[in-house]
Amino acid sequence: MPKVVFRDKKAVSIEVGQGTSILDAALEHGVPLYHTCGGNCSCSTCRVLVLKGAENLSAMDPAEAQILDSFDLRAPHRLGCQAQLLGGEVEVEIPLRSREPRPNKTPPVPKGA
Ligand code: FES
Repeated sequence: MPKVVFRDKKAVSIEVGQGTSILDAALEHGVPLYHTCGGNCSCSTCRVLVLKGAENLSAMDPAEAQILDSFDLRAPHRLGCQAQLLGGEVEVEIPLRSREPRPNKTPPVPKGA
């Protein structure tokens, strides 16, 4: 069963089902992680730094790479809403922010669109 460790003020270690995104793992277990666009790969506020176990995450698709590039973010950044836990252990850090992100005015993509 995949495991994700959030390394912040205190470490939170969570076991999740295969294919769970880092964002969903965080939200389901009360770990605060911004997600202004609702997980639609358009805001980058769910960014995390992958400290260990990047090989245990899903491959980055072009849409995620484009968002990271547009915010000038490089490896080891990943988008929490896009990176899925496939197995083993992944250790991440949620970057500190001095301010909350601005609200996203883009409507969410309808399910099944
Ligand atoms: S929540 Fe917006 S890009 Fe992940």
